[in-house]
Amino acid sequence: MIEIGIALSAERDTNRLMETILLEAKDLSNADGGTLYLRTEDNNLKFEIMRTDSLKIAMGGTTGKEITFPPVRLHDPTTGKENRTNVASCAALTGKSINIPDAYEAKNFDFSGTRRFDQGTGYRSKSFLTVPMKNSQDEVIGVLQLLNAIDRKTGEVIPFGDDIQPLIEALASQAAVALDNKQLLDAQKLLLDSFIELIASAIDAKSPYTGGHCQRVPELTKMLAKAACESKDVPFAEFDLTEEEWYELHIAAWLHDCGKVTTPEYVVDKATKLETIYDRVHEVRTRFEVVKRDAEIDYLKGILEGKEDPEKLRAKLDERLKKLDDDFAFIAQCNIGGEFMAPEKIERVKEIAKVQWKRTLDDRIGVSHEEKKRRERVPAPALPVVENLLSDRDDHIIYREGPEAAAEKDNEFGFKLEVPEHKFNLGEVYNLCIARGTLTSEERFKINDHIVQTIIMLGQLPFPKHLKRVPEYAGGHHEKMDGTGYPKKLNKDDMSIPARIMAIADIFEALTAADRPYKAPKKLSESIKIMSFMKKDAHIDPELFKLFLTSGVYKEYAERFLDPSQIDDIDINQYLK
Ligand SMILES: [Fe+2]
Ligand SMILES: [Fe+2]
Repeated sequence: MIEIGIALSAERDTNRLMETILLEAKDLSNADGGTLYLRTEDNNLKFEIMRTDSLKIAMGGTTGKEITFPPVRLHDPTTGKENRTNVASCAALTGKSINIPDAYEAKNFDFSGTRRFDQGTGYRSKSFLTVPMKNSQDEVIGVLQLLNAIDRKTGEVIPFGDDIQPLIEALASQAAVALDNKQLLDAQKLLLDSFIELIASAIDAKSPYTGGHCQRVPELTKMLAKAACESKDVPFAEFDLTEEEWYELHIAAWLHDCGKVTTPEYVVDKATKLETIYDRVHEVRTRFEVVKRDAEIDYLKGILEGKEDPEKLRAKLDERLKKLDDDFAFIAQCNIGGEFMAPEKIERVKEIAKVQWKRTLDDRIGVSHEEKKRRERVPAPALPVVENLLSDRDDHIIYREGPEAAAEKDNEFGFKLEVPEHKFNLGEVYNLCIARGTLTSEERFKINDHIVQTIIMLGQLPFPKHLKRVPEYAGGHHEKMDGTGYPKKLNKDDMSIPARIMAIADIFEALTAADRPYKAPKKLSESIKIMSFMKKDAHIDPELFKLFLTSGVYKEYAERFLDPSQIDDIDINQYLK
């Protein structure tokens, strides 16, 4: 009995646990058959496991054979009356064991179903011992039913003896506690899983550009981890994951970008250089309009004064207006972040910025408290004031405030990051001169900061022992094998295999995703080619990349998650050398 108790409390799989309970009870009582029912939330008894040895019936549990019998109702669905005619239901309702020597002679119970079953099979159901399973709160959580006790000497079917009943009852109560604990654990785990998925979906929902990333990376991570487990080749021959380690990787993969909850949307989705929460190109365009209007006013004033030839004045005006139109078109074009901005273009932005316009209105009224504070860093000029068409002003700079782990030199986390001096710089010239893409170095730092936040957040969670490596697995996906990644500049040897797997999964998902609504997603061959360069540059683990290709994981993932139009022919041999 003690041994059974130990075995029950050690079992982590619910199906195996239920099976152990039933088989041990059958063994103890030498019964030919048995059924284990669990009480469901809607107050029915669901058939979980069934066994009848002499008929070779084994259903439910780990057999994979589903039990199709409808559940036993504890109450009549229309009248609500207790169902005491069914012996299992009666044991559950009363909380008492029922020992029946011969079902065919039992008066108070309806065994017509049993009789029908016997007629179909030629079996003779006789003795029944039905025991409720009560948890530590004395609630019935299931029923254990044994069928046909067999005399160990004669092989005859006999009633369940008075000596055996207390033993089965003791087993049932031990089993109930073990099952109850397991159900509680399962419920907690389900809650944790759902919570993790909720965070991942919230992050994915933040940006229409990266939607689905947090949900697809775990899939790809698991596919590649499985290939590594199955691989018999160096260096993965020894690599394997236990059930608990799989779960650890699952959690890590789902949470790998959890720090993104702290990334401002305007940075995540910054589509043009002047965009903050709104695209300031419209403000700049209005200034150009003002300058054009001023040019016309100058012309009309010139006509009124009558000193210069009107035709010359007109020609001068037309030339001026045309230049302003061209300049604005150029600035507007610069606002769209291209691949590379040549130095001459940067010079032209700076030249255009010097064009002057007159401001007569106070720019410190009607603004937010924060902006007002920033503007007050310098005294207000007297109005009207002549200002540059585009400027980098003091109030465009957002200072770092308070301690930031990532920005500290010898921080406790081991972050080694190049930290820009300011938190943000909204300067107009500064932003329009971004050499590549639409992000300033301050904004790029903020984007990269998501991994710093991921590591800090996960580091604060009280992970139990079997989940201790979640922060390591989740936090390494932007590191590179040669130590040039971030945030810790780890190299290959500093990283576990699962962490290196996650880095590949993260990159491949991002490459193949439709990351910008106006950009078609990359073809499979193109994505693999880019990754092969990353391998050459020692950014990703070459052996994992090889496994990614040879195992066919890249293809399997593509078939499951990519648009068919992305899947093109690819010769992986060229990348295996
Ligand atoms: Fe990330
Ligand atoms: Fe990611």
